[in-house]
Amino acid sequence: MDRQPNFSTLIFEAGRVFTPGSPLNERELFAGRSDQVDQIINAISQKGYHAVLYGDRGVGKTSLSNVLVEFLNDIGKDMFLMPRANCDASDNFKSLWSKVLRDISLTRSRSGMGFTAEAISTSQSVVEMFPENVTPDDVRRSLDLLSKNNSMVVIFDEFDRLTNKMTTVMMADTIKSLSDHGVDATIMLIGVADSVDALIGEHQSVERALVQVRLPRMSQAEVQQIVIKGTAKLGLVVSNEALSAMWIYSRRPDQLIGLTCVPKCV
Ligand SMILES: Nc1ncnc2c1ncn2[C@@H]1O[C@H](COP(=O)(O)OP(=O)(O)OP(=O)(O)O)[C@@H](O)[C@H]1O
Ligand SMILES: [Mg+2]
Repeated sequence: MDRQPNFSTLIFEAGRVFTPGSPLNERELFAGRSDQVDQIINAISQKGYHAVLYGDRGVGKTSLSNVLVEFLNDIGKDMFLMPRANCDASDNFKSLWSKVLRDISLTRSRSGMGFTAEAISTSQSVVEMFPENVTPDDVRRSLDLLSKNNSMVVIFDEFDRLTNKMTTVMMADTIKSLSDHGVDATIMLIGVADSVDALIGEHQSVERALVQVRLPRMSQAEVQQIVIKGTAKLGLVVSNEALSAMWIYSRRPDQLIGLTCVPKCV
């Protein structure tokens, strides 16, 4: 026997499950994108490779990076440190790295005085250890130390927001330096762009070290998977007719005429 759904509650819950206004954080609701996730995991798993994730605005770049850690856990990689920062127009090289590493400290131990003395540990924030003018080599050394205990993926989102050309050049130099020294840390740059050149300029020196992942608009199957996963979380089933209509609507909002979708609780 069909239970009558409480529509007010459903509408409220639907607003929590479908969140077009903010990136997704839950793997359970994340749909499709398996090729792109595989390409990024490949870059992370190979020393010396870094990743650039680019595409149109709103295609799901931040969401993919948010759930990446869960995909890594699935394949048994659970010792990841994944600091991230959003770039903005005011950033320079130092402010970018300060943002991304501000919560990370390095602990050093040295032996105490006398034979029975305990080791003394001191902890210092990585950012405090930076000199006034941070160079790509300073960053390379810090990441080399940090990645001794944990594999690292350092994410810079909204990379297209940077306006300072020198900052972009220094980021490319950092990637080159990390690759050349075989540091076990992956840089992931994310931004709105048609091409990687538009995002980091023409840096042939880093081209070999960069896995370039374009995130296209979602396919019909992927869009429908979002709806299926979301409605399942709400305890609903969605009809094929409604699924087809939502695909059309997602491409041409003006085409949505007279769609009626009566939810059924499962
Ligand atoms: N793979 C996915 N599965 C389910 N929902 C998704 C997926 N990718 C994106 N979304 C949804 O699409 C919306 C836009 O995603 P997101 O903010 O990640 O895009 P973006 O490319 O980072 O956008 P911007 O270019 O504005 O930064 C989010 O609200 C999210 O809920
Ligand atoms: Mg984003």
